[in-house]
Formats: sequence, C-alpha cells, structure tokens
Amino acid sequence: MQPTVTPFFHAPTSTWTYVVSDPASRDAAVIDPVLDYDWRSGRTGTASADVVLAHLAAGDLRLRWILETHAHADHLSSAPYLQSKAGGLIAIGEGIRQVQATFKRVFGLDDEFVPDGRQFDHLLADGGTLEIGGVAGQVIATPGHTSDSVSYLFGDALFVGDTIFMPDGGSARCDFPGGDAAELHRSVQRLYALPAATRVFVCHDYSPGGRPPRCETTIGEQRASNIHLKADTPVGDYVAMRQARDATLDVPNLIIPSVQVNIRAGHLPPAESDGVSYLKVPLNVLGRPL
Ligand SMILES: [Fe+2]
Repeated sequence: MQPTVTPFFHAPTSTWTYVVSDPASRDAAVIDPVLDYDWRSGRTGTASADVVLAHLAAGDLRLRWILETHAHADHLSSAPYLQSKAGGLIAIGEGIRQVQATFKRVFGLDDEFVPDGRQFDHLLADGGTLEIGGVAGQVIATPGHTSDSVSYLFGDALFVGDTIFMPDGGSARCDFPGGDAAELHRSVQRLYALPAATRVFVCHDYSPGGRPPRCETTIGEQRASNIHLKADTPVGDYVAMRQARDATLDVPNLIIPSVQVNIRAGHLPPAESDGVSYLKVPLNVLGRPL
C-alpha cells in the first residue's frame, strides 16, 4: 500500500511539513509541523498549523502520528497544538535524549526538565515499525546532521528530514552538537541502498538559484546528482567539503527559541508565577563549539 503525500511549505523558515495518509483507512500522520513564531514580539501563531488541520478535516483524515525527524533548530514545532486539536501520538528518534542533555546544559535548565525523552509519547529506535492504517512504516536512524535524526519510510515514500536536501541543494550542516559529517555520509549511504524509485521528501528547500521551492525527488536522482553527496562520493571528500562549508555558516535565526521548545516536544517552557512562559538567552555560549 502506497501512501498519499501532501506537502505544506512554511515560507518564513523554508520548511516542508507533510501529511501522509492511507487512502483506504483515512488514517494519517503529520511529519515536521511548524508553529509560527515572530522573534521580535516573542509571539507564537497557529495559522500554518491550522492549514494542516483544515486539510485533515477536509479529507476526513484521522491523525494517528505526529512525527519529528529531529529536534529542529530553525523552527518551532506545532506538534502539541495539532495533538490538542486532532489527537495522535508525538514521536521522535530516541537520540533526542542526548540532544536534550546537551541543551539542558546550554540553556541552564533546572531539574524540572528531565532529559530522558518523557516529553514525547514515543521514542523510536532504528528499525522500529509504525503503521498509518494499512501503510507500513519503518524508522531508519540517520544521524549526522544531529544525533537524533531519523528518516521515515512509509511504503515507497521516504521522509529524510535534514539528512539530505534536494539534489541541487546538497546536504545540511553537521556542526551542531552531536553532528558528524562522516556519520551523515554513512547515514546517506544507507538511504541510497533503497530502491532507485523510492520517493524522497525533504524537510527544507532554500530555492537554490532562485527556483521555486521543491520537496520531492527520488533515491536514484540523489545518488546520481546530489551536489554534495553522490553514491560514489568518498567520505573524506565529503567531510572536508562539509567542514569547510559549515565554518562559514551563521547560527540559525531561530535556534534559541526553537531548541528550547522542541526538546520539550513542542511545549512551551512551564509558565512562571505570573502565568507567562519565558525563554532564556545564554549569552556568549552559542556561535562557537559547545
Ligand atoms: Fe535541522
């Protein structure tokens, strides 16, 4: 059984969210949903998530899973909002524990925040299985961009998160804590072992060359033409390219709010005595190796 895949583009963060559904049972999953966030005012918004909810309602789809490919550093997750409106279980790769421990330290979080993954409904291991109605799914651990990165294979549709971009976009940075370019190379080789016709759906597209945003390619196209990582790209060449390029990249615009919210499965930090939820800004910590 092959799933129906509907993409939604969040232009402010160049993020692709997907609704993956089983046409027979009308069960569905949402992958990498976005919460709108205005960093100047510190205000969150649900307009983008509401578009996804409207799609679920229009198709009479039952939300079973809300899946994160990793704890994103460039956008906030709307997983808890979607869950509150449409149900479903929030899941992420089990490597999230390591990411939580790192960022608990970075943000000076107190004992209230326990870095054991309990904030999520499910932690997924490499080789784990999950279903969307009659569509069988498999979890493929693909660390490298981050240590918690996973890809999801539902039928012939592979959701790679930031493991790899469109062929003309290359690959994502590997310089976050827990990132490792050689590990990313290994992860991508595992994906490249899948059938050439496997549909590949990426989490971001930054419109290289000014073309319109794209989200879908195939394993065959990636193997043959990804500008950073082809099937025969030697690991040493890839690591050297990636490290040189990462050294030129700025800290992502929304890393401070995104990570603090996303390591809580998309929940805002607990409200303080005035009923307001606050984020922290660690001064002179980010922007150099942690
Ligand atoms: Fe990412």
